Amino acid sequence: MCGIVGYFGKKDAVKALLDGLSRLEYRGYDSAGVAIPDGDSVSIIRTVGKLENLKAALSTKNIKANMGIGHTRWATHGRPSEINAHPHRSGSIVLVHNGIVENYIELKESLEESGYSFISDTDTEVLAHLIRSLYRGDLFSALRDAVSKVRGSYAIAVIDADKRDRIVVTRRDVPLVLGVDDINGEYIAASDIPAALNITRDFIMLEDGGFAQISADGVTEYNPAGEIIQKKITHIDWDPVMAEKDGYPDFMLKEINEQPRTLMDTLRGKIIPDEGKIYLGELEGLKSKAGELERIVIVACGTSLHSGMIGKLYIESYAILPVEVDIASEFLQRSLPLSDKVLVICISQSGETADTKQALRLAKKRGAKVAAICNVLGSAIASEADYCIYTHAGPEISVASTKAFTSQTIVLLLFSLWLGEQRDVLGKKAISEILNDLLHIPDKLKAIFADQENIKSIALKYIHAPSFLFIARHYNYPIAFEGALKLKEISYIHAEGYCSGELKHGPIALLSDNFPVMVYAPAGTVKDKVFSAIEEVQARGASVIAVISEDAIPPSQCSDIIRIPETREELSVLLTVVVSQLFAYYAAKGLNRDVDKPRNLAKSVTVE
Ligand code: AGP
Repeated sequence: MCGIVGYFGKKDAVKALLDGLSRLEYRGYDSAGVAIPDGDSVSIIRTVGKLENLKAALSTKNIKANMGIGHTRWATHGRPSEINAHPHRSGSIVLVHNGIVENYIELKESLEESGYSFISDTDTEVLAHLIRSLYRGDLFSALRDAVSKVRGSYAIAVIDADKRDRIVVTRRDVPLVLGVDDINGEYIAASDIPAALNITRDFIMLEDGGFAQISADGVTEYNPAGEIIQKKITHIDWDPVMAEKDGYPDFMLKEINEQPRTLMDTLRGKIIPDEGKIYLGELEGLKSKAGELERIVIVACGTSLHSGMIGKLYIESYAILPVEVDIASEFLQRSLPLSDKVLVICISQSGETADTKQALRLAKKRGAKVAAICNVLGSAIASEADYCIYTHAGPEISVASTKAFTSQTIVLLLFSLWLGEQRDVLGKKAISEILNDLLHIPDKLKAIFADQENIKSIALKYIHAPSFLFIARHYNYPIAFEGALKLKEISYIHAEGYCSGELKHGPIALLSDNFPVMVYAPAGTVKDKVFSAIEEVQARGASVIAVISEDAIPPSQCSDIIRIPETREELSVLLTVVVSQLFAYYAAKGLNRDVDKPRNLAKSVTVE
């Protein structure tokens, strides 16, 4: 996610902006920039790479200023480069933006017809020209009128380079807070609290769709009608480290809890549910080949492999195409025949996993087209693939992958529906029903978060078990694998994922009274079969933690029950996986593990 800072006060604005941006570095970025008054205009300084580069560039300019705006860019449109870095300018309008302008193409075309010329590949530059086209001297009105034409998410800070007397900000679906220190006359707008803690601990949490003006006179909040809103000041007593985690004790718990929002960020701009429409512009070049595809091969590692296992079931069900899933490091050893009738899908949160990157290169060498599903724009796998769909889950800091998994699963679902439509095997009515069910998932996730004390108490009950078995069937079978991986990689308790139908072919010999089994048995076509597996497990004296739908009658004598809201079977994985994430998190915390940086693990395995 990008980071925004806007400062107005009596201190050195360059220092205040750089300090604020450095406290946003944890969000991940690939370039940075500031705009600061310089004589009777504004200087814009932008650099690629780390903030050190921006600091070095600024150190050569002896600029003293009392206001300015700054930005760290997490690229979504347009590769990381100086020309794509923010701030962006049009005439005297200079702005920074966090978010996605979904309709930037149509706005850009309209502005070009009006004579505006573009120099960057970003959606943000559209905003600069749009505000300028509406600016008649009142920056608030120009910003308000401009964003009324925008579809998408944004947090914007804008200044007029000719006047340099105020910063006007607004937000929609993207965080923006206002730090206020009326005593010392210091004011700061920022993407989140950490960036402002050096200035103040008193904040206005700008309302969604709200506007504010920052000037030497302080902060004034407006509603879209331009009426002044009574300021509500919130005092924050977090320390800076806690603030980076938005008040959560760990990045992992923060990222687990972000999922109701990140799911929507992944979907943003891609669907019109009531019309059963799916837009995957990244796959435009694949449309003409969709009907000729003979099979799909999904290749990934770890958690990304598990989302791929779900993707297999989605594609086979909705696009009626055979799919195989392979571990990237094993794919490299195979003599698998490929051709241009085969699509290889490489899934990678980091886009830098060596095994998956090598698998991509091998697939291309053998003549297959490759589509990537990545979370990091401009990463190696994203760049080398023929097509790439970004998950837009925002930076995932914790080593244990959580929100990336659910976003990958959403992308795979959209891809399978899109492919089914392209292959004329899936109608808009069916797509519309699935998409509308999907829109209810964020609220259903919140119901799970409301029950997390129950999940926590169950997890703490079993933290001394020597081993765990996770079992499920069909769509939730990959969740058994993912639940086992989450538990073992952060709590160091041994765990295995198995499909419940395989129990009697060996693993059941393991079971005893000190061998807990987590069973995923939500409503669906295989619930009764999995309930039977629960009976088998209990007959061997093992404790069963049953994850079942809210209205289900549990099988007899389940030791522990975790209930999830009912949803269609294909979407239940988005709920059961969050139960798994929370279960593993609380077990690991019960054992005082470092959940964000588990021993022996790296966030991105860039070596084979
Ligand atoms: C997941 O929690 C692990 N951190 C690990 O298995 C990870 O999913 C795997 O290394 C793949 O990473 P990638 O998605 O960045 O390619």
